[in-house]
Amino acid sequence: MTPSLPQPPLLTIDIETLTTELQALAAISDATTPAVTRIVFSDTDLRARAWLKDRCQAAGLTVREDAVGNTFARWIGHEPDLPPVATGSHVDAIPNAGAYDGTVGVLGGLEAIRALTRAGFRPRRSVELITFTAEEPTRFGIGCLGSRLIAGTLDASAGQRLRDADGATLDECRERAGFQGPLSSVRLARDTYAAFLELHIEQGPLLERAGHDIGVVQAIAAPATLRVVVEGIGGHAGAVLMPDRHDAFLAAAEIALATEAAAKDTGAIDTVATVGVCELFPGAVNSIPSRVRLDIDVRDIDEKRRDFVLARIIDACHANSTRRGVSVNIEPLNADPPAPCASAIIDTLVAACERRGQTYARMISRAYHDSLFMSRIAPMGMIFIPCRGGISHRPDEYASPDAIAKGVGVLAHALAELSVD
Ligand code: HGY
Ligand code: MN
Ligand code: MN
Repeated sequence: MTPSLPQPPLLTIDIETLTTELQALAAISDATTPAVTRIVFSDTDLRARAWLKDRCQAAGLTVREDAVGNTFARWIGHEPDLPPVATGSHVDAIPNAGAYDGTVGVLGGLEAIRALTRAGFRPRRSVELITFTAEEPTRFGIGCLGSRLIAGTLDASAGQRLRDADGATLDECRERAGFQGPLSSVRLARDTYAAFLELHIEQGPLLERAGHDIGVVQAIAAPATLRVVVEGIGGHAGAVLMPDRHDAFLAAAEIALATEAAAKDTGAIDTVATVGVCELFPGAVNSIPSRVRLDIDVRDIDEKRRDFVLARIIDACHANSTRRGVSVNIEPLNADPPAPCASAIIDTLVAACERRGQTYARMISRAYHDSLFMSRIAPMGMIFIPCRGGISHRPDEYASPDAIAKGVGVLAHALAELSVD
C-alpha cells in the first residue's frame, strides 16, 4: 500500500535547527568568520565530516563512506531492495568562501528527511543523503572529483594521477585522511539510484531579481578547465633591457586578455571565461617572471560555443609563444558536456512547488554541481533558492532562513513523491 503523502500543513521545516546547523558547520573553517575555507582532506574538512556524520546518525540514518570519502547516509525504506532516491551536495569550500554553497543541499537534505519523519511519512524506497568529496577544484585542480568517480566520468587510473600543489597524490591524501580501498570501488552502476536531486543556492541574481521562491533547473552548463604554463626567460629587472626580454607574465597576460575576448566574441550571454589562478615564478619584484601558470575556466550551456572559446585560447597561446619567444604548455584538465535535467523530475519539482504554493522559474545552472555527474547514472533534478545579490564564493554569500525553508520543503515533497514510485 503506498503511504499517503503528508499534506503541506503537516510537513513543517525546522528552520531554527537548520539555521543553527548551517552556522555550526560554517564555524568549522580555516578562515575567519564570515569567510569559510574548507579544503578537501584538510583537518578542518575531516572535522566537518565527523560533525556531519554525527548529525546523520542522530537522525537515525545509517552512514557509510567510500574509498574517496563520499559519504552516504541512508533512511531505510520499507522496500529496501529497491534503488533508493538520492539527494545531496558538498561541504568542501574554496578559500574565502561563504556558508551556504553546498551546505544548504547537505543539511537541507538532512532536514527534509527529518521533516518527513516527523510528519509520520515512511518511504517505500530508501532515501539516501550523499555528501560528495571535493566538489571544488581547489586541491586537485578538477571539480566534482567524488561524483566524477561515482559516475565513471573520471576513471580510477586518471584519478590516481591527480596531485595537489605539494605533489601529494590523491591516494596519499585520501589514505592519510582515513579513506582506504581501491579507487575503482567508488564507481556506482547506472541503476543504483531511482533519481538524484540537489538543493543549492542559485549563485546568481535571477531568482532574487524576479522575486521567485524556487528555481527549477532545466540543464547544467558545460564546464571546461585549461592549465596553461608559460616558460620565458627570467633575469634581473634592472639589467635586462626591454628588447632582450622574454617575459612569461606579459605573454600570460595577453593569453588572459585573449580568453576574455574569445568569450565575448561568441555573442552569447551564456558564454563565460575566467582566469582564476595566476602563479608567477620566482615572484620577486626585481626579477623578470620566468614561469607563469594560468588555470582557465570556460563554460557555456552550448558545448560547441564553449569549445570555440577553448580553440581560440589555444590559438592565442601558440601565437603568443612565437611572437614573444616563450614556450607554452596547455593541459586540458576537463571538458564536460552539459547535463539536461530529467523531464519527469522537473515535473515532480514543479508539482511540489505548486502543492506548497511556492513561485518558481525554470532556469539553467551556470555553476556546475555534483548533479552534472550524477545525471550520468540517474535521472537528475536541481532545486535552486535565491541568494542575496546572487553573491557566492565570497564571505558575504547569504540565503535567508525563509528561502532555505521553502527550498527544503519542495525537496522534501519531491523526495516523498519519488520514494513511493
Ligand atoms: O565552480 C562551480 O561552478 C562550483 O561552484 N564549484
Ligand atoms: Mn562552489
Ligand atoms: Mn556548490
